[in-house]
Amino acid sequence: MLAGKFGRYDVAKLTQVAAALELIHMASLVHDDVIDDAATRRGTPTVKSEWGDRMAMYTGDYIFARALVLLAEFSDVRIHQLLSESIVAMCEGEIEQIRDFYNMEQNLRTYLRRIKRKTALLLSVSCTLGAMVAECKPREVRLLERYGYYAGMAFQIIDDILDLTSTPKKLGKPVGSDLRQGNLTLPVLFALQNSRDALRLRNLIGREMTAAEVEEAVKIVKSSGGIEYARTMADRYMEKCLEALRQLPNTDARTKLEGIAHFINERDH
Ligand code: IPE
Ligand code: MG
Ligand code: MG
Ligand code: MG
Repeated sequence: MLAGKFGRYDVAKLTQVAAALELIHMASLVHDDVIDDAATRRGTPTVKSEWGDRMAMYTGDYIFARALVLLAEFSDVRIHQLLSESIVAMCEGEIEQIRDFYNMEQNLRTYLRRIKRKTALLLSVSCTLGAMVAECKPREVRLLERYGYYAGMAFQIIDDILDLTSTPKKLGKPVGSDLRQGNLTLPVLFALQNSRDALRLRNLIGREMTAAEVEEAVKIVKSSGGIEYARTMADRYMEKCLEALRQLPNTDARTKLEGIAHFINERDH
């Protein structure tokens, strides 16, 4: 909706696309909670935990399909192309993540490619579509696309940090679930390379862990400086995100987008 403010702001048209995007996002989370075996989301029980995996898979599909119904009203094929490509990428990211569970040979590049696919592209496409629907100039579309991409990268790095450092009460969703399922995120990859206890960490995370082993692994990751390393990386993406924003006209919408970026960066929930 905010991206649309940089062009011809047609509230009805923009709402239609925004609602479709929100539904796609929500559908992916309903499925994500099945895959990640998560009991809560946004502080309430997940579809999975209330009604089981079968119901949750169809609920996710149903929400996806409702998004398609909304999008069917648009004749601009670029919208359909961009969105379907980003959903394909999201699935690729998630599938890669499962393939790489417990894989300690992965590196920074594979991690960044994964979070780009699973998170950043949808955010980026959201901004692009808002701008496109409002017929913004190509340069502005590109800047908003970049804003969304960098914000998305920072968002997922911070999400991965919070999974190690936060509490279920603050997050409204389980913590420690990444390590528990063998999803090796940036702080963990750093610790595997740099921790004094890297060997012990390797032994712990090479296979399924008990609760006590997860706790020990988290401790090693924290004392390795991996959290600070990931934080610095998120800051770098955040700088690029704000840099893209600064090249756009200085409007109320830009200030709001800046506010969202700062919120992503500073949140502890
Ligand atoms: C993002 O990854 C989920 C999607 C891209 C669909 P996570 O699995 O880390 O998300 P949370 O932590 O459950 O919200
Ligand atoms: Mg997940
Ligand atoms: Mg999850
Ligand atoms: Mg997470």
